[in-house]
Amino acid sequence: MSKQPDMEHPFNEQFEQMGLDARARFMQNHLCNVMHELQGSTLGIDNFGENPDGSLKEHLKRSYGDWLPPYSTRMRIVVTGAAGFVGSHLVDFLMKRGHTVIAIDNFSTGYHMNLLDWMDHRNFELHTHDVRNPLNIKGKVDQIFHLAGSASPDECISDPISILTTCFQGTINMLELARRCNARFLLASSCGIYGFPLWHHNPQSENFLGNVKTFGRRACHDEGKRAAESLCYAYAKQHNVEVRIARVFNTFGPRMRIDDGRVVSTFILQCLRGECFTIKGDGNSSRSLMYISDLIDGLIELMLSDYTGGPMNFGKQEEYNMIEVTEIVTRAVKKVQGDKFRPTPTSFLPARTDDPLMRHPDCTLAKEQLGWSTKVDIDEGMLETVEWFAAMEEEDWLYDTEEEEEGKSPPDI
Ligand SMILES: NC(=O)c1ccc[n+]([C@@H]2O[C@H](COP(=O)([O-])OP(=O)(O)OC[C@H]3O[C@@H](n4cnc5c(N)ncnc54)[C@H](O)[C@@H]3O)[C@@H](O)[C@H]2O)c1
Repeated sequence: MSKQPDMEHPFNEQFEQMGLDARARFMQNHLCNVMHELQGSTLGIDNFGENPDGSLKEHLKRSYGDWLPPYSTRMRIVVTGAAGFVGSHLVDFLMKRGHTVIAIDNFSTGYHMNLLDWMDHRNFELHTHDVRNPLNIKGKVDQIFHLAGSASPDECISDPISILTTCFQGTINMLELARRCNARFLLASSCGIYGFPLWHHNPQSENFLGNVKTFGRRACHDEGKRAAESLCYAYAKQHNVEVRIARVFNTFGPRMRIDDGRVVSTFILQCLRGECFTIKGDGNSSRSLMYISDLIDGLIELMLSDYTGGPMNFGKQEEYNMIEVTEIVTRAVKKVQGDKFRPTPTSFLPARTDDPLMRHPDCTLAKEQLGWSTKVDIDEGMLETVEWFAAMEEEDWLYDTEEEEEGKSPPDI
């Protein structure tokens, strides 16, 4: 049976000693924290001022356990790639909303640590499974978020076949699951489907059909995602599967992998460690950088919407060149390190072959159809990210996947 909240107020003594204003603020905070605990932190209830007692959250956890109000819209939701960067943030969001989450991952690039908060939760199941193999899930499934697959530029070099087969066979298997369960299906596609945009393709809207090389370093990712999108279309046409396709542009935030060759994680670590920024190319290539919470909002909105008109872009509308990115990272690291900060020099290396010169989304469709746009300022997001990297670095928890396989760095669960 669900645990009900204790009737005895846990803060009586503290409450008695407060003035009227403080009592009002205390109650407001108390209510906010209850709401946070019960329904997640996305209800716009963050702005009620400072929490008067730092341990309030802990008290609430003990008092209320995992009691939740009876939602009529609770769903059973499958998330593939759940232990990865985007997947684990999505799991957090859904779990805090009171849904049941079935997390699927083969841990090729994901970490158990990312899902640590939910391991013992009764609404959470984790299955180690490779989506390239068929998957059966008993009982109803309402939604499938299909995120499994790497977005890492380095992996495109080390294991392109696995990236392609995950995109193709993995998507077929998950669409089959959606068909059997009558579940709505969302694919995390990629801006990679646009390939190598030229100047007159900037910004890239969904109508731009792409300029993709079948025989290049990034082809496995770009062509893989293109095939995955076509599979969604085919399953919608042939089997009436309800599909949604999110074309994701560069995203950053806590839990990014350090070893995947993406610019943000690379620059943050170089700056935190006082090493040299290594810019590939002349520094003029540009990217749009979206903070993770904005992407999660977009994925949720798209999944819940009635929009069936095809793929939709999600990304930050502003573009930053590589030099600007080092400056943004430097500002955040300076704030985090304070007096310990030492300026980081920059060196330029040869550009990587087939790297697009620009990535700039046109998100008019998402704005018109979902009312979605990014909200998080780049400096704000970067600070959160650098704080996370710095904390991990201090704990010596920044590791790569091989280390996890060998059981070296991350804590056992
Ligand atoms: N993060 C970005 O900037 C970005 C940009 C474009 C597209 N995307 C897409 O979003 C999705 C999530 O990206 P991410 O940044 O979280 O990457 P990630 O590498 O952090 O996470 C991917 C997860 O998928 C799992 N996975 C990979 N192959 C699998 C397989 N065959 N079976 C089961 N699990 C498998 C990995 O172990 C990992 O946990 C990917 O599909 C990616 O292509 C992300």
